Amino acid sequence: MAKYVDVLKDKVIVITGTTSGIGEGMARLFAEQGAKVVGSGRRKEKGEQIMKEICDAGGDAIFVRTDVSDHLQIKALIDTAVEHYGRIDILVNNAALEPTIMLKDITWEQFEQVINTNLGAYVMGTKYALDYMLPQKSGKILNINSVTSEQIVPGVGVYSLAKAGIRNLTKTTALEYAREGIRCNEICPGLILAGEFMKPEVREWAKDSIENGTPVPRLGTVEEIAYAALYLLSDEADFCNATSLFVDGGRRLI
Ligand SMILES: NC(=O)c1ccc[n+]([C@@H]2O[C@H](COP(=O)([O-])OP(=O)(O)OC[C@H]3O[C@@H](n4cnc5c(N)ncnc54)[C@H](OP(=O)(O)O)[C@@H]3O)[C@@H](O)[C@H]2O)c1
Repeated sequence: MAKYVDVLKDKVIVITGTTSGIGEGMARLFAEQGAKVVGSGRRKEKGEQIMKEICDAGGDAIFVRTDVSDHLQIKALIDTAVEHYGRIDILVNNAALEPTIMLKDITWEQFEQVINTNLGAYVMGTKYALDYMLPQKSGKILNINSVTSEQIVPGVGVYSLAKAGIRNLTKTTALEYAREGIRCNEICPGLILAGEFMKPEVREWAKDSIENGTPVPRLGTVEEIAYAALYLLSDEADFCNATSLFVDGGRRLI
């Protein structure tokens, strides 16, 4: 039986938000699996250091400083990937803010910032990637969504509103471009040891939710998300389109 190695050999992959957490984990795994990785984020030093570690370990990766709340910077990220590696095979929309704000407290500026970063950037990343994927009649787009796309949690309203929009975007992309050789899927993580959950005080605050609100009573890991992504981005997943893969310990059921 063939080994599950080099699953992404020579695929050019752009990932938004590789300076920490799930994006960093995907960048490292995809490079190990043979991909040419274009990482991004606002934290230049951290982002460059991670890409250097990937290259030192035998991988092929570059970092492009990008603020995804500015759509022209997303265009520049994707154009740079194509200039450097000659094509783009895969886009992973991952970068997001994770604010906790009750609806009564939200300002227009905060609303705009969350919607631009967490939803607008996914839409514009998709559009700019399609500019290259449609002529080559192939490409995969993976949206990192969340269990909160369907689970309502107090204080997470605008974040989950953006995530619900991503569900719609995934379906629209999948439907509009399937016949052009494009696939679009999403992963819906539950509570993962990344982002806000790296803070001990947040883990303490969410202790009951982790232990009693999730059938598998623990936080998930970055690697568990990265391996799920690896499957959806493999050639073997070609029949997956508009798939929402929940990696949430069953949290959506509670
Ligand atoms: N952790 C969880 O429990 C969980 C659960 C469900 C879904 N998710 C989703 O998983 C994805 C990754 O989150 P994470 O948990 O890994 O959090 P994280 O470690 O905070 O990573 C977020 C990434 O997004 C980037 N980012 C944020 N704003 C940006 C901007 N304006 N421009 C460019 N990059 C930006 C950050 O980079 P810079 O700061 O360097 O810009 C960072 O690399 C997000 O879509 C999140 O909604 C996470």
